[in-house]
Amino acid sequence: MAPEGRYLMVTDEVSADTAFAEIRGIAANLERDIASGPIVPTVTPEEIRRHLTSRYDFREPMAMDDAIADIERMLRTWQVQVTHPRYFGLFNPSVTHASIIADTLVAMYNPQLATWRTSPAANEIERHTLGWLAGKFGLPAESLASFTSGGAEANLSAVTVALTRTFSDYAESGLCRMAASPTIYLTKEAHHSFEKIAHLTGLGRAALRRVATGEDLKMSLEDLAKRVAEDRRNGFAPFMVIATAGTTGAGVIDPLPEVARFCRSEDLWFHVDAAWGGAAIISPRLRMHLAGISDADSITCDAHKWFSVAMGAGMFFCRHPDAVRAAFRAETSYMPGKMAGAVLDPYTTSVQWSRRFIGLKLFLALTHQGESGYIEMIEHQARMGDVLRRSLKRAGWRVVNTTPLPVVCFSRDGLATTKFLAALYERQIAWMSEVRLGDNTPVLRACITSFRTSERDIAWVVREMGRIAVREETSTQ
Ligand SMILES: Cc1ncc(COP(=O)(O)O)c(C=O)c1O
Repeated sequence: MAPEGRYLMVTDEVSADTAFAEIRGIAANLERDIASGPIVPTVTPEEIRRHLTSRYDFREPMAMDDAIADIERMLRTWQVQVTHPRYFGLFNPSVTHASIIADTLVAMYNPQLATWRTSPAANEIERHTLGWLAGKFGLPAESLASFTSGGAEANLSAVTVALTRTFSDYAESGLCRMAASPTIYLTKEAHHSFEKIAHLTGLGRAALRRVATGEDLKMSLEDLAKRVAEDRRNGFAPFMVIATAGTTGAGVIDPLPEVARFCRSEDLWFHVDAAWGGAAIISPRLRMHLAGISDADSITCDAHKWFSVAMGAGMFFCRHPDAVRAAFRAETSYMPGKMAGAVLDPYTTSVQWSRRFIGLKLFLALTHQGESGYIEMIEHQARMGDVLRRSLKRAGWRVVNTTPLPVVCFSRDGLATTKFLAALYERQIAWMSEVRLGDNTPVLRACITSFRTSERDIAWVVREMGRIAVREETSTQ
């Protein structure tokens, strides 16, 4: 019999610590295998579809061992291995062991977090974890926060709350009754989710005003002021500025203190999309680069990016609790009545109704590693970013972006990026991508997104990349 209340593989002979050690052992073996195997698959949709059709018609049950073995084989051979130490990709992290355990526990208990009454423990664990991070961002104690499916949902929440607070008619009558069309200001480096959000909210994609950037790809305050003034003169209703703290393409941080001051003086909602870069707030070495974020009206930050927990785990923070309640209010007879006292039903302060216990993976990982362990993990990746930048420059590459965060965009004269990446993937050297910044010229983009990436990995990758580049130069002569 398991000791009372402990069921995670716990028997008379096995303690939860042993079970944890076992799962960590399995995860560590997998990590070792992944690290020594290919990163990029070569597979066609037809090959996968043929395999699925031939094995899975669901008519007869299949032995679990057989099914799991086959699924693992598919996942091992037919995906980009984002937890590989040489995956220098799009913010998809290696995952902490604690976050794997947390997701297992969540699936076993399947708590529904829509109302406090149904899942008091889970709700309070999330509240506690979000409160810790809100404090790090410097938000006031009364701020509201919720876990989301990811950064896109958090950004959608921000725009919805900002619209609701700014325009008294928006909630009931929508945009069609408004005398002036609302407009949002952001750079072209901002995340593409805002295009969909403008579409979904009814603002329309044309409501997004692309503010110019300087050479450093940061938002130009001068152009921001000019665009807002112009729009006001032309009868539009500017209501929101979106600054990015760690752009997806180049890891650039917009000038947060200046944007904050401008928003205050112009009475505009100041949202900071810190989906990836927000984790830097806990690092004593990096947090100065996020100065100004404490003045945000709302913040997006993803735990499933630099906090290295399994997907999906986004977070939305807002300093205006009344506006959040107004934006997400909902009542029907089948929903449980309000609890008395200082508790909150998440379905009344966020987009979702049925809610997974997303926050446990961050809570357990933080508990297991402690803040100091987390700081070390984040600062290690920032250090590896510096190592990569220096190594590339030494090897004759030109680094084209400026950021203290570990995203490095680079090129060299005459480089055919698409061809170069194809060779990189074919030789299984690393996964990185192509991005077009500022002048629209394609360059290579590498992000240190695994806490397991070491100086040795970087040295090897840079050396091997040099070999490809040299071969391409000689073969095109
Ligand atoms: C700056 C930024 N914001 C928002 C998002 C969207 O986050 P998610 O993929 O979690 O929805 C991303 C994703 O990469 C991002 O880089």
